[in-house]
Amino acid sequence: ISQIAPLRSALATRRKAAKRIALVPTMGNLHAGHLALIELARRHADFVVASIFVNPLQFGANEDLDRYPRTLAADEQKLQGAGCDLLFAPTVAEMYPQGMQSQTRLCVGGVAQRLCGAARPGHFEGVATVVCKLFNIVQPDVAAFGRKDYQQLRVIETLVEDLNLPLRIISLPTVRDLDGLALSSRNGGLTDEQRKTAPVLWQSLQQMAKAITEDGERDYPTLCASHKAHLAQHGLRVDYLEICAADSLQAARTDDQKLLIAVAAFLGNVRLIDNIEVMLG
Ligand code: PAJ
Repeated sequence: ISQIAPLRSALATRRKAAKRIALVPTMGNLHAGHLALIELARRHADFVVASIFVNPLQFGANEDLDRYPRTLAADEQKLQGAGCDLLFAPTVAEMYPQGMQSQTRLCVGGVAQRLCGAARPGHFEGVATVVCKLFNIVQPDVAAFGRKDYQQLRVIETLVEDLNLPLRIISLPTVRDLDGLALSSRNGGLTDEQRKTAPVLWQSLQQMAKAITEDGERDYPTLCASHKAHLAQHGLRVDYLEICAADSLQAARTDDQKLLIAVAAFLGNVRLIDNIEVMLG
């Protein structure tokens, strides 16, 4: 379904039958990570809606909106195979009939400000706005997000809490390729050579986590600096590599117990992100 009105009536019927509805928002070009979210949603609801919308509002002027892969026919097949009940794939005009400039925007506080929030001004405003619109259009009981985009998950959890939105957010650990690279629609933009280099991101994150948990390393700035240099040696341009408190996403203090190590780096013109959760004590 590509329009809001018929989607609402299709869902009203299910809701009347007391069906629990789940939503899995995506930008398409689906891979096993997205399909695992559909399966997770299945376990928490009777009726699973996926959305595919490449949201212009969350892309910066010099970002990859035009290059973002659009593979709707293949995505439909995959969703059917994964047990998705309904696909909502609206046009930009359906989502933003007044155009982007006059669009009301949501600005989420603390958790949205650092990491990708700092590196991509306006990005999380665009994400929070479109996700809130999707929540209002579909009115799901639960919505599923991946922890690959950990900061995005925290932004959405914060949005739901701060605005008292009546749904529950569920999440899934990062789904990876055999060599550890986090699955991403953007991986397809890597050359063969870059694809071979890319797993160094996850290797660095694992080594950093091990240094903290096994060797008791607590000098976080030095640990980050040495791994930034390591990534640079492999030809990555690091946007950020930071150790944060996992809930607030503020810079970690040495007594924080629940940490997130988050990285964003360019390989050529492809921006990759990844993270690892670290529990102490
Ligand atoms: P997209 O990048 O398509 O991701 C859709 C969902 O899939 C997000 O919740 C993301 O965290 C999850 N995901 C992506 N790769 C994953 C992986 N390797 N393992 C587990 N989950 C993974 O994120 C977006 O779209 C957009 O910002 C959106 C939320 C749809 C708003 O436009």
